[in-house]
Amino acid sequence: MLLRGFARPYEADMLAALRGIVAQAPFRRMFTPGGHQMSVAMTNCGNVGWVTDRSGYRYDGIDPESGAPWPAMPAPFRELALRAAEEGGFAGFAPDACLINRYQPGAKMSLHQDKDEQDFAAPIVSVSLGLSAIFMFGGIKRSDKPKRYRLEHGDVVVWGGPSRLYFHGVAPLADGEHAVLGRQRINLTFRRAR
Ligand code: SIN
Ligand code: FE2
Repeated sequence: MLLRGFARPYEADMLAALRGIVAQAPFRRMFTPGGHQMSVAMTNCGNVGWVTDRSGYRYDGIDPESGAPWPAMPAPFRELALRAAEEGGFAGFAPDACLINRYQPGAKMSLHQDKDEQDFAAPIVSVSLGLSAIFMFGGIKRSDKPKRYRLEHGDVVVWGGPSRLYFHGVAPLADGEHAVLGRQRINLTFRRAR
């Protein structure tokens, strides 16, 4: 479900909280198990964070860069995730992980499934801020032709149930200047990892 502008009322609180998170756990470009450096820079907040390195993909309670726990998930993040999931038909969503992606012009995310979580009953809630991007949403098979959606500042996507493991990705970010966030797109995905 695509909820246009759903995050707008939370924008100021989210951006303020984001500054605190990034001060504690700066964005970094991680390496895939295959040794490629991702074009998207990432950080996390919550009890656990998604990380990738030469040993694989996993959720970890510790930020490998600092050796400290990830910053706590701020209240407005939890509130937005809960409300958006509810709107998408998933009551009582209590995420324990929020992966924060930063796309600069040219950055992209190849088609993938979110499948490192322990339980697929909970949905994924994805919040877009800053420059708009083309979100590709396919099917259960990698070869299913993805539909393309332009996600703008404040849009929220919720997927779960039968589409929980659908392939999705983001086309290379076009250059531009966003009035609030400048030359970047920030995406937050809320997950129930454990
Ligand atoms: C993701 O699949 O983790 C990111 C999706 C997005 O940036 O919209
Ligand atoms: Fe994903």
